[in-house]
Amino acid sequence: MRNLDTRISAAFGICLAATLALGTAVPAAAAERNGPPGQQDHPTIIGHRGSGGLSPESTVAGFAQARDFGADLFEVDVQLSSDGEIFLFHDATGARTTNVAEVFPERAGDPITSFTAAELRTLDAGSYFGGAFAGEPIPTLRDAALVTNPRTGINIELKSPENSPGVEAKLAEALGEKRYWQRLIARDQIVVSSFDEASLRAFHDLMPQIPVVLIGAVPDDAALAALAEWTEGLVTNYRTMDPADVARVQAAGLTLDVYTVNSVDAMQEMTALGVDTIITDFPGVLAAVQQGRNPLPDANGIEISTVMADPPGNDVQPENGEYVLLTNAGNTPVDVSGYVLQDAVINRLTVGSGYLLNPGGELRVYTGPGTNTAERYYNNRTTAVLNNTGDSLAVFTPGGTFVDLYAY
Ligand code: G3P
Ligand code: MG
Repeated sequence: MRNLDTRISAAFGICLAATLALGTAVPAAAAERNGPPGQQDHPTIIGHRGSGGLSPESTVAGFAQARDFGADLFEVDVQLSSDGEIFLFHDATGARTTNVAEVFPERAGDPITSFTAAELRTLDAGSYFGGAFAGEPIPTLRDAALVTNPRTGINIELKSPENSPGVEAKLAEALGEKRYWQRLIARDQIVVSSFDEASLRAFHDLMPQIPVVLIGAVPDDAALAALAEWTEGLVTNYRTMDPADVARVQAAGLTLDVYTVNSVDAMQEMTALGVDTIITDFPGVLAAVQQGRNPLPDANGIEISTVMADPPGNDVQPENGEYVLLTNAGNTPVDVSGYVLQDAVINRLTVGSGYLLNPGGELRVYTGPGTNTAERYYNNRTTAVLNNTGDSLAVFTPGGTFVDLYAY
């Protein structure tokens, strides 16, 4: 179970935004979205839900950040409001990433698709990430289109289409009627995806000129051959993928895309395997890897060396529950008081005050309760945060400087 308490101070968000603004390097050359399967110099970069590790997911601020950090595409999830308007949102409810509990207290746990478009526009989808993003609205498809440019296109995912009946036709209608979509289609800068094969097929039948990719486990060769009849490729979870499947998918004439790759090591590993596209919450990190720049220019020696997500017994048992091991791999002492460890859905563990890590020093940061010592700090939570099937953690200073990224 994950704890979804994602509050953050306004100061953190403001400093984070300021830090990130310094890192906006945009490659000059326009990139083709995908070459033939397995034959690109570098995997295509897709910013997951925009730039979900460093800005609020599924917001224009996040889409713009992905673009400015060098993503080839940014990914959005489409759903339908109760009055039939497309909006961009990932979760099934607004509870995690919006202030729905304040604005509509009686409806906080209701399906996000039960709200009208006008109601959705009243929600704040930025504050959950940080005060600097307060007031970011839930975007429309047009909002996202306006962020694209000749360098950065869009990946539109039909999200949980069973909750949005008719979304395939609505999407096809929207994409068919505006010149900016025609430009994206002409430049091969748009791809539509879904976990739901029937929904993806329905969209494809309506708009065969737009490439589609199916998200899911890699199937057998016969199923790959059938997919190659109408899809461009397959999108799969890199943690569960068999490395041999990359060549097998590509031999079927399909591209192989992987999600959600949130560490430099995993990015390099996936690149070495020859995947066609890497989907990441940190598109700027991947762009730096591809361009030979330092992917973590503000690293200060503080690193995550181990994550113990699933210890024997209860994950939040007193003293011996789940923890993250922080190490000072640098040459100078670092005060890690107030450091923030942030997972992919923006749960945040913190380090208390008074913790100085000498070179080679280690600190275990626990989710649950226990007695603090020089080597152990407890967050005193009652529910687990660390995902037992794997996740990623970004490390920030109290001022929001991004110093490490780790996947497990
Ligand atoms: O697009 C592939 C993957 O990111 C889909 O997962 O749940 O983030 O939409 P989700
Ligand atoms: Mg998605």
